[in-house]
Amino acid sequence: MKKKFFIKTMGCQMNVNDSEKIAGIFLESGYVESDDDRQADVIVFNTCSIRQRAEQKFFSELGRLKDAKKHNAKLRIAVAGCIARQEGEKIIKRFPYVDYVFGPDNIDRLQSWINTGEGRVSVEDNPEYHLKVLPMKREGGVRAWVSIMYGCDNFCAYCVVPYTRGRERSRPAEDIINEIKALSDDGCKEVTLLGQNVNSYGKSLSARSEFPELLENIHLISGIKRIRFVTSHPKDLSDRLINVMRDMPKICEHLHLPLQAGSDNILKLMNRGYTFDNYTQKIESIRSAVPDMAITTDIIAGFPGETDEDFKMTMKALETIGFDGIYAFKYSKRPGTKAVELPSHIDENVKSERLLLIQELQETIISEKNKRFKGETVEILTEGLSKGDADMLTGRTAKNKIVNYCGDKGDIGNLVRIKILEIKQHSLFGDKI
Ligand code: 5AD
Ligand code: SF4
Repeated sequence: MKKKFFIKTMGCQMNVNDSEKIAGIFLESGYVESDDDRQADVIVFNTCSIRQRAEQKFFSELGRLKDAKKHNAKLRIAVAGCIARQEGEKIIKRFPYVDYVFGPDNIDRLQSWINTGEGRVSVEDNPEYHLKVLPMKREGGVRAWVSIMYGCDNFCAYCVVPYTRGRERSRPAEDIINEIKALSDDGCKEVTLLGQNVNSYGKSLSARSEFPELLENIHLISGIKRIRFVTSHPKDLSDRLINVMRDMPKICEHLHLPLQAGSDNILKLMNRGYTFDNYTQKIESIRSAVPDMAITTDIIAGFPGETDEDFKMTMKALETIGFDGIYAFKYSKRPGTKAVELPSHIDENVKSERLLLIQELQETIISEKNKRFKGETVEILTEGLSKGDADMLTGRTAKNKIVNYCGDKGDIGNLVRIKILEIKQHSLFGDKI
């Protein structure tokens, strides 16, 4: 009987993409995937350390596995991802029943561990990792995620990513194009390009290539109907990119542009490299090129030193810009980052209050914005059956709004037009035309 692996993926889309590689390597080694950790011969945790809560969640899950080996002596446990890279050997010291620890840049070492069982910790720098083409197990279906670069050089004061994912390195354009062509041959219609700062794609390549050029080349792949990308950094968002978004019909009218805070003092302490004015100027350029572009953002509540005045500026920013969606977080202390050393850390209760106010304000903004969909006809890419109701199909508009409708499974993978009949806070419902 074939051995089974089970992967528990935590955190961002980058980790989901890494788990596809981890699964690809297990499958190549003759394993099959199990969706039950109690049946597995190998359990892999792909971990996240962006905020403290993600870290705590992982450690408590790992703690719960302590006795699992008593029931199954052959069980092997591996820890991957950002916590692996940060903690390395320490994980094994604290949890001796862990067999292998490997970082996001060391997935290419996994095969040898699977085959030989040798080695316990692989978290070393791997400057050539972006040149490797690893096997991948894709979910299949209409949408896929493709990493175009690894790491980050921005060192925002709160953020652990430059330490866990290393220096920024771009993958060669040819490897990316080949990967997307293969996805298209397998029926994929929409790709989302992944990187911490896609606008600086290509800086690290010897054959200089830039993000707008990469988009142009992906645009030529005929089976791909839609192109998305995350994340854009406001300081590097160029007019050229804005023009490419305007001119290329397959590029979705959605930009995720993390603002983080509305106060210049806080933006400076965060080391974000722009002022609120710079940010709004970018928004103006985007909206004058593509008037109805959906813009989403990330906000941090209660960064060290954030006064009531600073906080009000963030609230005001949300009101004036009118985002189509936000991800808001309480500031979380991350060991090793600059912000830990800053004076005036904010009380946990104050952070919670501010987060709640941000979320409440955003809900009213969304309700208001949603009104415009009443009676509208939108185009969606049908992705599959709706999770909430298997009699319905689900898809997204180019602006990333979820739309559910009653229709035929044959629509999956097609662009269809829907007349909107009902508006819910975070999804729309309508009839196919
Ligand atoms: N605390 C809170 N939020 C954080 N983020 C990154 N680091 C932290 C932290 N220490 C948020 C930022 C980033 C998003 C991916 O996660 O808003 O854009
Ligand atoms: Fe973290 Fe800033 Fe890099 Fe984003 S740009 S990954 S927030 S350091």
